[in-house]
Amino acid sequence: MLAAYCIFYKLVVIMDIILQQNSDDDQVEDLLDIAFGVDRHDKASYTLRRNVDAIDSLSFIVKNRSSLIATLRFWPALVKDEPLLLLGPIAVLPELQGQGIGIKLMLHGLMEATRQGHKRVLLVGDESYYKKVGFSRDVVKDIVLKGEADQNRLLGQELIKGSLRGLKGTLKNISG
Ligand SMILES: CC(C)(COP(=O)(O)OP(=O)(O)OC[C@H]1O[C@@H](n2cnc3c(N)ncnc32)[C@H](O)[C@@H]1OP(=O)(O)O)[C@@H](O)C(=O)NCCC(=O)NCCS
Repeated sequence: MLAAYCIFYKLVVIMDIILQQNSDDDQVEDLLDIAFGVDRHDKASYTLRRNVDAIDSLSFIVKNRSSLIATLRFWPALVKDEPLLLLGPIAVLPELQGQGIGIKLMLHGLMEATRQGHKRVLLVGDESYYKKVGFSRDVVKDIVLKGEADQNRLLGQELIKGSLRGLKGTLKNISG
């Protein structure tokens, strides 16, 4: 199913997705401040990333000449001792939102994550949006995200079929 979405978006949305370099870090932080506000670090999803580095090979950006227009990164996390990926944050420059950039960026990231051998991905967000790229609430009903008032925002996707089956517990930061 993921492959079918990817082919469709590759055809209709043309843009270059590249890996984030150290020299892009400031522009990425600026875009996240614009998209989420400077108080974004208080969110439950940020506590899962505290003192943990994003995965370099799954940190993507889209640029128009030298200007950053979108960012997507993945972080490692745990439920019990089982490793998983956290998708996000994802952000697109406000004036370019609604043109399919976010979906295409996520499909690219999810295909790469699969290719790199990851089995499952969780995120915190609106199911109505993320179901477009295969996320659902059903597969993570037994996983708890501390500090998040609305547990319905915790969503998941199996990159390998069955990889979330039976997984129960609290979603944890890998640094403890
Ligand atoms: C969320 C975001 C990354 C989406 O990127 P985008 O390039 O604008 O999205 P796309 O163009 O690929 O997809 C647009 C579709 O998603 C829908 N959509 C966008 N955000 C949504 C949301 N939060 N809830 C439900 N649907 C949403 C749009 O209505 C549109 O639907 P349509 O195709 O049926 O018209 C972007 O809007 C953004 O940066 N927002 C601010 C930061 C943010 O909220 N990040 C996500 C945190 S959970």
